[in-house]
Parts: sequence; structure tokens; C-alpha cells
Amino acid sequence: MADRIKVLIVDDIPETRDHLSKLLGFEADVEVVGAAAGGLEAIEMATALQPDVVLMDINMPGMDGITATEQLAAQVPTAAVVMMSVQGEADYLRRSMLAGAREFLVKPFSSDELTASIRQVFSREKEKQSRMVPVTAAGSAAAAVDGAAPAQATVIAVFSPKGGVGRTTIAVNLAVAAATLGKKVALVDASFQFGDVGVLMNLNPRNKSIGDLATELQTGEAESLDTFMITHSTGVRVLLAPPSPEQAELIGPLAVKKVLQRLRLDHELVVVDCPSSFNEPTLAVLDESDVILTLLSLEITSVKNMRLFLEVSDQLGYRDDKIRLVLNRADSTLGIRVADVEHSIGRKVDHTIVSDGRSVVYALNRGVPFFLSNREAQVSQDILRLAQAITGPPPTAAPARVGDKAAKAPAAKKSLFSFRS
Ligand SMILES: Nc1ncnc2c1ncn2[C@@H]1O[C@H](COP(=O)(O)OP(=O)(O)OP(=O)(O)O)[C@@H](O)[C@H]1O
Ligand SMILES: [Mg+2]
Repeated sequence: MADRIKVLIVDDIPETRDHLSKLLGFEADVEVVGAAAGGLEAIEMATALQPDVVLMDINMPGMDGITATEQLAAQVPTAAVVMMSVQGEADYLRRSMLAGAREFLVKPFSSDELTASIRQVFSREKEKQSRMVPVTAAGSAAAAVDGAAPAQATVIAVFSPKGGVGRTTIAVNLAVAAATLGKKVALVDASFQFGDVGVLMNLNPRNKSIGDLATELQTGEAESLDTFMITHSTGVRVLLAPPSPEQAELIGPLAVKKVLQRLRLDHELVVVDCPSSFNEPTLAVLDESDVILTLLSLEITSVKNMRLFLEVSDQLGYRDDKIRLVLNRADSTLGIRVADVEHSIGRKVDHTIVSDGRSVVYALNRGVPFFLSNREAQVSQDILRLAQAITGPPPTAAPARVGDKAAKAPAAKKSLFSFRS
């Protein structure tokens, strides 16, 4: 069978290796290509056999599973590691994910769990590879035409684990501010069920939203994306949320990824307004983003949810510098100090935006972003500073853009992806 999943088993106990081989022998779509007794042997065999999936024991004498996984990520990046361990502690999970493992199985596990993990990891890896190829091909084609490096936008998710903290307000004004700095900006309303971007920007066209792309995205690429985007007077190109919540149901995580990858190609900055729910489409946005602007406010519930979110993002393998904390309404005197918040979540706040109910609500009700209607206000100045920090210094200072990181270079992209597919 052409598409059998090639699996390498790594465990120091011979009986375990045999047992796993036998279990997998019953699966028509899986082929065990080898079995190694330790980390070093695993790397040698993986280099020679190029397996799709490596089942890796965590505790082995000599080179342990975590070290072997780290080395495999560099030497055989196409091999996805499923870590196996009797320890189910969060620390093992975190360290395995950081080393580049894609899944974690706690022994004893059933044969169903085993095969489900293998198939899931394999299909995610295939999907990842298929989307990396067209991007590279399109990029080199563009580079060949104009002789310049291909355009690759920085994708910025504006997220918060709690609702009503100002995500839409900040996403819209940030996009507008970046456009006034001369950047080619796309703004996506990924609050698919109850999107507010259209209201804040006074855009209300018929049949122009991501909902109109849903059918196309189910079977193919986002070919007609341009048709469904609206250009705001500032030049920001906006992809609105569907007009009704039923249509929102049709937008799955794969559709989200296709849209963002497409937008990356012909913009410099893609700003995504996210909902606070942790559903699959939102996770797809967060995965696909270079930077997650994570909003919090000086409220105890916001701080509590932020702590939980930081734990989750750690488990998802997001790098620390992917998350940037933005404290909105930072000057509100509600009894909690910024230092208390920082102490509680164990991180410094990266950016602050002042509270300015007058400018913000007046602008909202008129459908004109406050960055345009009240440019002198402190809240607009704070947004401008945020936009500058994100889009980076002028081009003379070379590649210091946030989100550019090394992630745009193919080699570093691998290490970024190696945290998680
Ligand atoms: N810096 C600010 N100063 C004053 N008011 C603000 C500020 N930022 C946001 N607001 C107000 O807070 C409210 C919530 O803002 P917004 O709708 O942007 O939040 P959200 O996180 O997108 O909420 P939702 O969960 O509904 O999507 C709005 O009334 C907005 O005008
Ligand atoms: Mg919102």
C-alpha cells in the first residue's frame, strides 16, 4: 500500500518493543520499519529509514527520549515523535512538547489510543507539509518575477481568555494605525459568531464575508478571497465575520488556516480579532500567528484567566516571545496595581493602553476608529506605539520586526513548527 505510515519504535525493554510491533502489525495502514533500544540507535535508524512517526520511550539508559527527540527535530524533521511514558506529570508533557514531540501517551495505553495517536500525528504532519510546499513555491515564483524576497506578512492574533476586554477595539485601531504607517494591512474578524469589526468600521456590505467563502474552503484553496474582502478608506483590507451565527458553524480550523496563509502572501501585517472561546478555529488562528497580543485588564477574573491561558500556551509549545501581554485600560484605579498583576501571572506586561471611554465609545457609535477621529488622544498614541513595536523600525534597520524573528527563514521555521504542528 502506497500510503502506509512508517513507524519506528524506540524502547529499551525488548518485551515492550515486541508488544508494540505485534499490536501495530494488525493495522493495515501502519508499517513498523524498525525498533531501536536507545536514543542514539533511534537517531541512526531514523536517519536511515526516514519514518513518518517515532514512538519514543521517555526513560531510557544512555540518551533519553527527550534528548533524542530534540536531536531528531534537527536531523530528521519529517519524523513526528509520539512520546511514551509511565509518568503523566505536566512537567514531562511540557518538556516533551518543547523538545518537539507531537503527542504524549501515558503507559499503559490501549491499542486504540496508540493507533489513533499515530494516525492523528501523521495526518497533521502531512497537512503541515502540504501547506508549506505551496507557500514556498508561490514565494519563489514571486521572488523570481520581481527579484525581491517574497512578501510574508506577520500574523498578529488579538486574543484574550476573557470577553469584553477590548480585543475588537484594539484590533481595529491597530490595523488602521499600521496602515497609516504605510503597511499593507489585512484585518480578519475571526469572532465568527458575533463579529463586531463591521460595526466599528461602519462596513456592512451584502455577501462579503468569510461565510461566502465557506463552501470553496471546504474543498479547495481560498482562490476567490479577494472578492470577499472590503477595502476601508484607510486602505486596510477587511475580511468580515459571517452575518449570521449559523454560517459561522461552517468555518472550521482548516478553513481558517487556508485564509491566513493566503493573506500572508500579499500583505505585510495580518491582524486577527479573535473570540475569547478556545474552540478549534480560534486555536487554528493562534497556531498560525507569529505573535499573540493577549489582552488583560485590571480585574481579578481577567488575571485568573490569563494565568490559565499562559499555562495552556506553554503546553501548546508556544514560545514565550510569541505571547505579548497588553494591559488595556491600564490606568483604571480599581484596586489592583499593575505590579500585582505581573506578580500574579509571573510575567511583565509588554504594552499598555490607557482607558478613554469618551474617545472610544464616541468612535464606536459613529463607526470611525478613534485612531482616525481623535489622533491626539493618549489612547491613540498608545495604539501607535503598539503598531510601531509590532511593525518594527523602518526598513533601513534590517530585519528586526517582531514576528519576523528567524521564523521566516526556512531552517528556523522548522524549529518553530517542531513545537507543535
Ligand atoms: N482603552 C479603552 N478605554 C475605554 N473603553 C474601552 C477601551 N477599550 C475598550 N473599551 C470599551 O470596552 C468595551 C469592550 O470592548 P471590545 O468590544 O473591543 O472588547 P472585546 O474584547 O472585543 O469584547 P467581545 O468579547 O464582545 O468580543 C467596549 O464598550 C469598548 O468601547
Ligand atoms: Mg470583540
